[in-house]
Amino acid sequence: MKGILLHGGFGTRLRPLTHSGPKQLIKVAGRPVSEWCLLDLRDSGIKDVAIVLGELAPTRVIEYYGDGSRLEINITYVYQGYPYGLAHALYVCREYVRDEPFVMYLGDNILTNGISSYVKEFLSSDADAMVLLTKVEDPRRFGVAKFDERGRLVGLVEKPKEPPSNYALVGVYFFRPPYIFKVIERLRPSWRGELEITDAIQKLLESGFKVSYAFVEGWWKDTGTPEDILEVNRLLLDVKYSKQVVLGKVESGAKVEGRVYVSKDARILDGSIVRGPAYIGAGAVMGPGTYVGPYTSVGDNAELIGVEVENSVVMDGVVLEGRGIRIVDSLVGAGASVRISDSIPTGSKLIVGEQARLWLRGGA
Ligand code: G1P
Repeated sequence: MKGILLHGGFGTRLRPLTHSGPKQLIKVAGRPVSEWCLLDLRDSGIKDVAIVLGELAPTRVIEYYGDGSRLEINITYVYQGYPYGLAHALYVCREYVRDEPFVMYLGDNILTNGISSYVKEFLSSDADAMVLLTKVEDPRRFGVAKFDERGRLVGLVEKPKEPPSNYALVGVYFFRPPYIFKVIERLRPSWRGELEITDAIQKLLESGFKVSYAFVEGWWKDTGTPEDILEVNRLLLDVKYSKQVVLGKVESGAKVEGRVYVSKDARILDGSIVRGPAYIGAGAVMGPGTYVGPYTSVGDNAELIGVEVENSVVMDGVVLEGRGIRIVDSLVGAGASVRISDSIPTGSKLIVGEQARLWLRGGA
């Protein structure tokens, strides 16, 4: 079985974080979103994965994952070119998969229980395709399943105004070639101008091919907005880090409480408290006098000096400095800095990038 990881898209709702790279490379709980997907693929026994690259900084993806050996998988890169939709992204992989069954995983989706059981279920079935479904509050944002009165899957509709059920398509799809590729060749663009994978599977159903389904157990989320990233961060910190691990150094006057992962070469300096669930990246320095509160991930080589941070994702190389700075519910992009300084005149000094969003406390 082969894997296909989709890594395209422009991540518009996550700007400015996505001005410099694809949203799937945003690190949550210590790894890029798409790395959690790759681990799911690997842990289900898949060795060969094609990563489909979009037009937004594809070389950053190649630089980060390389040939995949760090994760013990073989990665092949396939360029999609213009993003004509998920079905098109799959179609460009037809030479790669040839006649092997495969799983297509959207690189911005997070499943907490992995995909091993579904891989087994699909491989032991004779289905031409299998989809994963989960109950959602607002199905209009997703591909939605339609069942008949006997509970059989009879249709799939992409972002319907009037959803036929509350069961949304999760971004993990299983296929046995070759029919899916033949169906995609005949597909017409949807109202949003894309070749939809949902429509392709609908065509399989209409043509009498066997499409099975499984309900996702555990938690699933697709990450399109800053709020989604914070939610996924909380969730991953909860499920992936079950105990305290300290590989770095905690000074005697510092405290690390609860489920905290302190990566190698990280330092927690005097007077600092890190309260889990939390992740501190390699080479990061907390302190002196810093408070890192629950549900915070701090990137590699970040420096948090005297600040308080809670329920936030602070990315690689960020500098936050100054007593009295309290940062909550925030995403801070790689290399950004926020400082309190006595050397500037009254007022704040800001160098804020395009489409940055700041909420400053008034009157303080
Ligand atoms: C895509 C699919 C949709 C699916 C969703 C899951 O939506 O088209 O059917 O439910 O992924 O993440 P998109 O992210 O393109 O809006």
